[in-house]
Amino acid sequence: MADTGAKSRMQVLVVGSGGREHAITLKLVQSPKVDAVWCYPGNAGMAQAARIPKLDSSDANTLAEFAEGQGIDLTIVGPEGYLAEGIVDVFRSRGLCIVGPSQSAARIESSKVFAKGLMEKYGIPTAAYRVFSEYQEAKGYIEEMGAPIVIKADGLAAGKGVVVAEDVETALEAVRVTLSGQRVGEAGRRIVVEEFMEGQEVSILALYDGKTCVPLVPSQDHKAVGDGDQGPNTGGMGAYSPVPVVDEALQREICQSILLPTLEALHKEGVTYTGVLYAGLMLTKAGPKVVEFNCRFGDPETQALMPRLRTDLAEVLLAVGEGRLASLPPLEWDPRACVSVIAASQGYPGPHDTGFPIVGLDAVEKMDDVFVYHGATALRGDEIVTAGGRVLSISALGDDIQGARDRAYEAIAKLDFENMYYRKDIAWRALDQGKVD
Ligand SMILES: Nc1ncnc2c1ncn2[C@@H]1O[C@H](COP(=O)(O)OP(=O)(O)O)[C@@H](O)[C@H]1O
Ligand SMILES: [Mg+2]
Repeated sequence: MADTGAKSRMQVLVVGSGGREHAITLKLVQSPKVDAVWCYPGNAGMAQAARIPKLDSSDANTLAEFAEGQGIDLTIVGPEGYLAEGIVDVFRSRGLCIVGPSQSAARIESSKVFAKGLMEKYGIPTAAYRVFSEYQEAKGYIEEMGAPIVIKADGLAAGKGVVVAEDVETALEAVRVTLSGQRVGEAGRRIVVEEFMEGQEVSILALYDGKTCVPLVPSQDHKAVGDGDQGPNTGGMGAYSPVPVVDEALQREICQSILLPTLEALHKEGVTYTGVLYAGLMLTKAGPKVVEFNCRFGDPETQALMPRLRTDLAEVLLAVGEGRLASLPPLEWDPRACVSVIAASQGYPGPHDTGFPIVGLDAVEKMDDVFVYHGATALRGDEIVTAGGRVLSISALGDDIQGARDRAYEAIAKLDFENMYYRKDIAWRALDQGKVD
């Protein structure tokens, strides 16, 4: 085939099983370039929208074998675990096209020590920090720095590796349980102790094909489980886009002072990054600073971005995989706002019951400009039931953030399952600007 543009009869594989992957899947299904979307492991929503192959295991080799046998043209990986374990290397060694960083490049997320070292060496703005593996040494540093202070496990910890300590005692306890392996196992044998940064957080995701960096529109997550950002951190309870505080000038600054220097720094270290680079930023008084990098799409940010994306996602991601981003026109976005609210199981991020039937999905799916993305759902017979903490993402478009939020809450009110819980204040920072800054 003369390969000057996107293939016309593509088969795509989406790896993962959350709201993020369902949002990506629904976008791909709409693409005229796409013949079939396959998802693995998938969820009840992805099973309705796409095809779930029967595989013996979900390891990278099994997935690559499937992709080869099925003639998959493009694979998109949601969860960081697969990337940190080297799924991209496995696929590429077989000549398969996949969007994501190599195992070595994924260290930008899978090792906070690596990421901090890179930022320090190349002058990328981030919190001051030190690395420790001995309690006594960390203790000396924390006592010298004082609180608030932040303790982070080096490795992947599914959102459980960071403690923002309000006082020195809490910080020392976090150091003790993290280094001992009690908190997050081996991921915590080394820790980063870093300066507390004050400000609003924002997520800037960018596509990178090894040469060209294309930032997506800004979005903002809500990590805490409770209204007013109270309670423990979760995988994210809702998101919205755009983020009014991140105007075009600030987006340019973030690109120039953070995204591009980071990609170049990796390059200088002999690592070519490709895929999605997600910069978690703190907008401090001294300018944007990096909280952390992720090496993949964000969840729930993706659920607030996909409804706004007008460009064909399949075409764009194939261009990332094939190193042709420069040849594409700029991404087109719906100027309307999107708010996405997570319907979770009460108790999450702690223990919670599952297996409850979800009612009202049909009514919500009929609403215009409303998108239901499944996260932890499963099929029981022909019933859709809850299967984990973050069950559904309800995204809505509106003329402005208030309109989108009203619509999202109107939709979620039509849904029910036994222990359904959701935050009532998603996008509060955007709607409450005056009082926050
Ligand atoms: N230096 C910091 N100052 C203030 N808050 C922080 C800092 N580092 C992390 N946090 C808070 O902790 C959350 C989790 O930290 P992060 O580095 O993103 O780790 P992970 O997402 O791997 O759990 C951040 O989203 C932010 O709310
Ligand atoms: Mg984070």
